[in-house]
Amino acid sequence: MPRLEGGGWWSLPGTRSCGFLECAAAPRQPSGPADRWCCITVNATTTDPRLDGRPVKRIVYDPERIARRVRDLGAEITAAYPDGTLLVLGLLKGSFIFVGDLVRQIERPIQIDFLVASSYGHATTSSGDVRLVYDPETKLEGKHILLVEDIVDSGRTLNRLMDLLSTRRPQSLEICALLHKRTATHLRYPVRFVGFDAPNEFLVGYGLDHAENFRHLPYIASLQ
Ligand code: IMP
Ligand code: MG
Repeated sequence: MPRLEGGGWWSLPGTRSCGFLECAAAPRQPSGPADRWCCITVNATTTDPRLDGRPVKRIVYDPERIARRVRDLGAEITAAYPDGTLLVLGLLKGSFIFVGDLVRQIERPIQIDFLVASSYGHATTSSGDVRLVYDPETKLEGKHILLVEDIVDSGRTLNRLMDLLSTRRPQSLEICALLHKRTATHLRYPVRFVGFDAPNEFLVGYGLDHAENFRHLPYIASLQ
């Protein structure tokens, strides 16, 4: 079985060893940074022991592509902020890997804290019921707050959290999302920093879960 750089084992019948990088569909028209767009479609079965036999439809973002985009996002954030305290506020649990990588690409002083909201339970669609389980301990007043989310789907989670954080009198309040499905009809706030415009599929890996599984995948895959 071929070994993928970054540690994964792959079996991709009928393709080369890193066959999931081959495109079987035309790319969507880019209107932003090229790396934000997803164009990888492979009908192949991947076998990775981390998946515990669960088939994935395709690998949407491989580790190298994620790393490149996170590096660029870090540079964008570094350039965007004026002087003052910048607090990166990660939304757990989905953002834990993204925040860990992102903050090391931000070349200015920052503080880091987390919030925990619970929304989906074990389902793959939004219930709209967003519950705050852990509130940041750090004072937010007078700081630049960058709320970091793994993925924007309906936008309900962000609406709830942004409403709440606005009341804490931050100097500025912005959103950074690794993935944006662009289906967020309910979202009342702009997403200032976006990693990738994601397909409207259920994605796992790089922090994203399905019923608490698959968060540790070093790539982002679409579940069957
Ligand atoms: P929203 O409130 O519908 O925007 O959903 C946002 C939250 O739902 C995210 O923080 C994720 O935890 C979860 N979520 C939404 N879409 C996906 C997905 O495709 N995979 C895994 N989790 C998702
Ligand atoms: Mg989740």
